[in-house]
Amino acid sequence: MTAKKECIVSGMRPTGPLHLGHHFGVLANWLELQEQHDCLFFVADWHALTTEYADPKKVKGFVPGLVIDWIAAGLDPDKCIIFQQSKVKEHAELHLLLSMLTPVGWLERNPTFKDVAAELAGQKDLATYGFLGYPVLMAADIVLYRSTAVPVGQDQLPHLELTREIARRFNFLHCPENAPFFPEPKALLTEDAKLPGLDGRKMSKSYGNSIALGEPLENLAPKLKGMLTDKNRLRKSDAGDPDVCNLYPYHKLLTAPEKCAEIREGCVSASWGCVDCKKVLHESMTAFLTPIHERRSKLEADPDRLWHILEQGNARARVRAQETMEAVRKALNFDF
Ligand code: TRP
Repeated sequence: MTAKKECIVSGMRPTGPLHLGHHFGVLANWLELQEQHDCLFFVADWHALTTEYADPKKVKGFVPGLVIDWIAAGLDPDKCIIFQQSKVKEHAELHLLLSMLTPVGWLERNPTFKDVAAELAGQKDLATYGFLGYPVLMAADIVLYRSTAVPVGQDQLPHLELTREIARRFNFLHCPENAPFFPEPKALLTEDAKLPGLDGRKMSKSYGNSIALGEPLENLAPKLKGMLTDKNRLRKSDAGDPDVCNLYPYHKLLTAPEKCAEIREGCVSASWGCVDCKKVLHESMTAFLTPIHERRSKLEADPDRLWHILEQGNARARVRAQETMEAVRKALNFDF
């Protein structure tokens, strides 16, 4: 194997099945990164507890499903390390140590903290120590592997900024003269949703406008049938505008470029109707989901393999985490 370039870490909270919005927003990026970089992808189950602390059973139920979604989508345990955060206890130790040097003011000012707390206000009591410390745990996840780049969405940027600040403070306090102990990781920004939901809003399971990665193929026809297209195109004889149509972004991601050009031409010249266009999308989407379904069925038929992949990933992550922690304890003079 040739040396891989950067160490990249990213995680997702196990909160439910993934959909096409996740795929094109985040996962597609991961799939590309695993080819060239030293990647660790993990299930952030402790992070899920910051909001689900009253009902942790839910979290447990979503862990295997998330890993199945990843591998079905093409994440390859031979190319990257796939693991579960709570199985690598070093994340908790480093979180504790970093919490000692993180000023509370940094956490209280964090806009993501304020947004999420406001969104869930009334539903959940998030005035907890753990929730405030969410970014400290995230910083630990990242610097534990001395990662230099983190693929995340826009909403995570304030957290990543805090990771850099925490890393800088650790470096300043504990190794002023040496080369920085922890690199300050940069964000590999995944662009904003390239794929809208079926109704044009952001794709989200809670809006009922999503197509799951595990969506049974027989659901596609009724879901596509209900999709909104260019609302100014009332009759087939009216010219349509692919750039305002909610279907066209799907074609751009799922249909071959030559076919997309044909569709665009057909739409603006009114020689294609929306029904024709949806028929092609149905084919493209079926072709996209079929290999994902095949990998999923194989995994589901062999649960031992899934646990084996996770256990191996946990063990590989643990070795690296232990190495860093030894150095951290030494830097803090806590190796007595
Ligand atoms: N906070 C991230 C999210 O909600 C999940 C996460 C936890 C993460 N730890 C991380 C992402 C470390 C990147 C790196 O999406």
